[in-house]
Amino acid sequence: MRLLVTGGAGFIGSNFARMAVRKGHDVVVLDRLTYAGNLANLRDLIDEGRITFLRGDVCDPAASAEAARGCDGIVHFAAETHVDRSVLDAGEFVRTDVLGTQVMLETARKANVDRFVHVSTDEIYGESGSRPSREDSPLNPRSPYAASKAGADRLAYAYHETFDVPAVITRCVNNYGPYQHPEKAIPLFAISAIAGFPLPVYGSGTHRREWIHVEDHCSALFALLRKRGIDGQAFNIGTGERRSTMQVARAVLGALEGRPDLIRRVADRPGHVASHAVDSRKLRRTTGWKPRHTFDRDIDRTVRWYRESADWWRPTVLGSARSYLEERYPGLVAAVEGWGRQSLAGAESI
Ligand code: NAD
Ligand code: TYD
Repeated sequence: MRLLVTGGAGFIGSNFARMAVRKGHDVVVLDRLTYAGNLANLRDLIDEGRITFLRGDVCDPAASAEAARGCDGIVHFAAETHVDRSVLDAGEFVRTDVLGTQVMLETARKANVDRFVHVSTDEIYGESGSRPSREDSPLNPRSPYAASKAGADRLAYAYHETFDVPAVITRCVNNYGPYQHPEKAIPLFAISAIAGFPLPVYGSGTHRREWIHVEDHCSALFALLRKRGIDGQAFNIGTGERRSTMQVARAVLGALEGRPDLIRRVADRPGHVASHAVDSRKLRRTTGWKPRHTFDRDIDRTVRWYRESADWWRPTVLGSARSYLEERYPGLVAAVEGWGRQSLAGAESI
């Protein structure tokens, strides 16, 4: 298939583009390269001519139409994605996540694609309470990010109902794996631990998330890309592997054999959701998909990837993410700089 991947220079989009190339698909990436987009995530694929990269905004109908020309499918990842940033400034979330999705749906309609996969999120349910959220659970998003994604999710449904766009909506749990932006919990914890900086756990540390390895998320998207007879439907993507933030922080420290007390409780996030968890039986029943990774093994592998990939994350921490991280986590950037000097000195003395 010729696939248009929006947001393909971000975390999940770049992992997806990589998997699509491995599977023999023809891939076009449309990405605006916001602070979250990083061409280093795709460098080898671009250099080897294995994908077509277009810099552009999903809110721009002309750029979207150009990117979609000749494509059979669109997988729409592009979004503003960080809950904490949506608390600081919600406007860009409404623009990109809601308007950008409407433009991409309109583009799909005009290009007459065979499949539009809308990458939504489990955050749109809000609190999952005592039972994991099902696809028919009420949507009670609690952050401007989640509310914008809920609007986008329902637009995808509306474009199917109104215009017959073959949209499928996916609501995945929290992802971990390589190439995740350093502002997100697991890379942030890993980078902190590597630099000897205390891992900043919000509030009580008891907030729970369900975790999936990014490759399992991508393989679920492929299962839905090919499946017929599911237009207009939503699918949860989950693993059942639920952990509190404190458990995640300890797992990261464990992977680095770091001091277990290198954790600091910091001010809580406003509107912090106590628990996100989904029931993913519909996806498994419909496609036969199941996850291949397990949290306990693959968190170790992921954290080791960050330990070995300082060349990938240091330019972001010391560059485009610097002022955000300095303001939010005073001392972290200085710790990364100090660690960099030390490791350089160590390398020179060898
Ligand atoms: P990310 O922030 O790492 O990447 C987002 C990408 O979108 C970046 O490359 C950015 O440059 C691009 N982008 C932003 N605005 C754009 C615009 N206007 N036009 C074109 N490109 C633009 O995000 P991610 O974690 O990879 O998430 C990808 C998608 O998956 C999002 O839609 C997110 O809501 C959804 N999702 C993420 C998770 C998770 O755990 N990360 C879980 C479930 C769903
Ligand atoms: P995050 O990666 O931001 O994903 P989301 O908010 O979309 O679930 O955060 C995952 C969990 O980690 C969430 O409960 C908030 C918590 N967290 C911290 O405790 N400290 C931090 O510095 C960050 C960024 C997140």
